[in-house]
Amino acid sequence: MTQNGRVRVGIIGSRFEADIHAAAIKMAQEAVEVVAVASPTPGNAAALAKKYGIPRVFTDYREMLKESDIEMVTIAAPNYLHAQMTQDIAQAKKHVVCEKPLAMTIAEGDEMVDVAKRNGVLLMYAEELFFTPKYLKAKEMADAGAFGKVYLVKQSEKHFGPHSPWFWDVNRSGGGALMDLGCHGIAFCYWFLGRPAIKSVYCQMGTYVHADKTQAEDDALCILEFANHTVGLIENSWARRGGMDDRIEIYGESGVTYANLHMGNALPTYSENGYGYAVEKAPTTTGWSYPVFEELWNYGFPQEMAHFARCTRGKENPQSTGQDGLIVLEALYAGYASAGEGRKIDLPFRPHGVKTPIELWLHGNAARKGKV
Ligand SMILES: NC(=O)c1ccc[n+]([C@@H]2O[C@H](COP(=O)([O-])OP(=O)(O)OC[C@H]3O[C@@H](n4cnc5c(N)ncnc54)[C@H](O)[C@@H]3O)[C@@H](O)[C@H]2O)c1
Repeated sequence: MTQNGRVRVGIIGSRFEADIHAAAIKMAQEAVEVVAVASPTPGNAAALAKKYGIPRVFTDYREMLKESDIEMVTIAAPNYLHAQMTQDIAQAKKHVVCEKPLAMTIAEGDEMVDVAKRNGVLLMYAEELFFTPKYLKAKEMADAGAFGKVYLVKQSEKHFGPHSPWFWDVNRSGGGALMDLGCHGIAFCYWFLGRPAIKSVYCQMGTYVHADKTQAEDDALCILEFANHTVGLIENSWARRGGMDDRIEIYGESGVTYANLHMGNALPTYSENGYGYAVEKAPTTTGWSYPVFEELWNYGFPQEMAHFARCTRGKENPQSTGQDGLIVLEALYAGYASAGEGRKIDLPFRPHGVKTPIELWLHGNAARKGKV
C-alpha cells in the first residue's frame, strides 16, 4: 500500500451521508480522494460518482473491497448494516470509518472493535461534533479555564424527522430520535468533559407527532451523570419544525458560553420568492428563513475526513474511535431502559437477552401497561 500521495477512499452508500462524505473529502483533497463508491440501487452510486468525479462504481461493496489500492472505506449505509460491513472491510485489511451510531447492539459493537484489532486496521467513529469549529472553540476556552470547573454541558439536535424510510423502522435503525441524534449529544458531552466515565443515565421519551409512522420515540430528554461530578443534558427531536437545530450550552463555576451552530451562522433572511436551500431539512425558503453558509465546514466534516486520512497513514491517532462509539452505545441502552422503567439507570449497563436499545423502551412501556 502506498504511503505517498492522497489516501484512497471507497464509500459505501450513495445517498444523504455518502454525499456528505464525498463533498467533505473533495474539500480535503490535499490529503484524500474518493476512488470508488458502492451501493446496491442501480443508478444511485453512478449519480454520486458523476457528481463528484469518482472513477469506479460498484453495486456490491464486497467487490469494491477487492480493489487493492483502496486504503480507507467509509460506511454511509443504514445502522443495521454497520457491523457486517465493518467485518468485511477489516478482513479486506482496509481502515474503517463508520457512521454513527456505531451499531445496533453492544454485542455487534464489541465484535467490530475486535475484528478491527485482529486485522490490524483502525476503526474510526464518524462523530463530526469533535471537529465542529464553533464547538472546538468552546472546548478550547473551557480547557484554558475560561469557565472554571465546568459542571453542566448541554447539547441538542432537533429536526422534523429523517429523510429515509429505514430510520423510522426500528428493526433497521435500532431506535428513534435518541439513537439517531442523541448519539451525537452523548458523544459530545463525554468528549467535551474530557472523557470521564458515565455514571448514570436518566431519560424521558415519547412519540408525540409521528405515531402513524414509527414505533420509535420522536422526542427525548436525557440526563447523563459523569464520574467527575459533572452533568450532560441532551435534547433530541424528530418533531421539531423548521429544519435542523443544533446547539450547545456550557456552564462553569466562573462562566458560560452558548453556541447555536446553524442559526448562529446564518443570515436572517426574508424572501417572498424563495431561493433554493437554507439548511438541512428546512421545508421552505419563503418568508423568514436562516440560510447557512459553508455548512459542511461549519459542521467539521472535511476536517474529520482529513484527520481520518492522516490516521490511516499513521500520522495522527484517531480522536474518535470504535471504543468511543461503544461507550455511546452503552449510554443509549441505559437511556432507553431508563425511559422504559421510569428510573435512573447506573452504568456499567450491559443487559443480556435484548436485541436493540429501543426494545428496552418498548418492553418497559408494555410491562407498565401490563401487557408483558
Ligand atoms: N454524521 C451525521 O451527522 C449523519 C447524518 C446523516 C446520516 N448519518 C448516518 O449515516 C448512515 C447512512 O444514513 P443516510 O442518511 O445516508 O441514509 P440514506 O437512506 O440517505 O442512504 C443510505 C445508503 O445506504 C445504501 N445501502 C443500503 N443497503 C446497502 C447495502 N447492502 N450495501 C451498500 N449500500 C447500501 C443505500 O443504497 C443508500 O445509498 C446512517 O448510519 C446514519 O445514521 C450520519
